[in-house]
Amino acid sequence: MKIFLSVYFFDQYFLHEINKWGKYSDFMKKIFVNGYGSIGSRIVSFLKDDLEISVIGIGKYSPDEKVHEAISKGLNVYVPEDKLGDFTDYEISGSIESALDESDLVIDASPSGCGYKNKKNLYEPKNILAIYQGGESTIGSESVSDLLFNSRANYNQALGKHHVMQGSCNVTGMGRILEPLRNKFGDQIVRFDVTLVRRWADIEQTEKKITDTIEMTEKPHHGDDVKLYFGKDAPLYVRAIKVPTRQMHLHIMDIRFKDTAPKPSEIHEIFTNEFGVATLWTAKGTKDIRDCAKTMGFHFVDTNMIHIHANMTTSIGDTVQMMYSDDQTGIVIPENHMLMQAMLFGKSYEDSFVHTESIFHMNEKKQKLQEYFAKQ
Ligand SMILES: NC(=O)c1ccc[n+]([C@@H]2O[C@H](COP(=O)([O-])OP(=O)(O)OC[C@H]3O[C@@H](n4cnc5c(N)ncnc54)[C@H](OP(=O)(O)O)[C@@H]3O)[C@@H](O)[C@H]2O)c1
Repeated sequence: MKIFLSVYFFDQYFLHEINKWGKYSDFMKKIFVNGYGSIGSRIVSFLKDDLEISVIGIGKYSPDEKVHEAISKGLNVYVPEDKLGDFTDYEISGSIESALDESDLVIDASPSGCGYKNKKNLYEPKNILAIYQGGESTIGSESVSDLLFNSRANYNQALGKHHVMQGSCNVTGMGRILEPLRNKFGDQIVRFDVTLVRRWADIEQTEKKITDTIEMTEKPHHGDDVKLYFGKDAPLYVRAIKVPTRQMHLHIMDIRFKDTAPKPSEIHEIFTNEFGVATLWTAKGTKDIRDCAKTMGFHFVDTNMIHIHANMTTSIGDTVQMMYSDDQTGIVIPENHMLMQAMLFGKSYEDSFVHTESIFHMNEKKQKLQEYFAKQ
């Protein structure tokens, strides 16, 4: 902790000194964010606070009010070359193709499946580093990368890579729980059974209708995706349903042990200092957490983390039952930031972590949430 704090203050001091000297641009890397939806708009908003980064702009595909929104936030908006004619009513900075020529790395935040097409049509021909989101794949003929990133499990593997996919929200969230459990209990654990209760839509997706049904997901990709970083033979069994809510995902997890399972307090203790995991006792539902994030003034009403619902943890015989909720839109944003630093600067995990923390203030948010939902 002491080392992290010292590095943190050095990091801040160093960046501000460079800023003062006005030689900053020599150190800054240029990023383009292709897509300005739930994920892209969040990523770019945090990147604007990053003194190591210069944001070239964002890519828009539809001429709508979000173009004005982006420009009003000081962003340059670029559109596909062949769509320039559709945007004559807007102050566009140029084509996406030209913006990529100026950039060191692109963060693709396009709808699922478009990332692969962008890789083939734009990023590979231009030989630009690229990060893809969880709606893409790392398996099969349309794979965008051979690495699915999870900072908790495989940070170092992203060093030197040109194309990497950030895991989806559920896949990222599972890593934050599974990896610390495995580190602590190793082969005492016989299996993990997880039921993912997935949200229907995001808060901002007001155009997306929520259907009054519980939808079952055949062959969910999440278990296979997690095994890409957790190990293909990991005893992990995942099923998924989708429910009509915009308020986060909930994972219901049973962990079976060889012998008597640890007590709930032993499970919670593992996560005391864990990055991006808050342990809450009195949240009745996921909306309580969003409401709290709103009260606290968190950006985008995001917590950027996993919330263990500690009052739901039980230990029965050889099995621990637990539940945790996953901030669907927020959780992958600091992960993209860590990944970007690995690919662009080749930083160590510790250095990236400290810099990400200085921008996202995850520890402060965790403490605030834990105090608000403390055990009574
Ligand atoms: N939403 C979540 O909770 C969440 C969480 C984790 C991961 N992800 C993943 O993140 C990715 C983006 O999801 P999202 O929820 O942010 O989607 P979204 O809200 O629908 O936004 C997608 C954005 O991509 C733009 N776009 C359209 N065609 C494009 C293209 N060919 N290339 C680049 N951009 C294009 C759209 O532009 P216009 O609006 O101008 O048409 C829009 O701004 C997906 O892979 C998704 O699976 C989403």
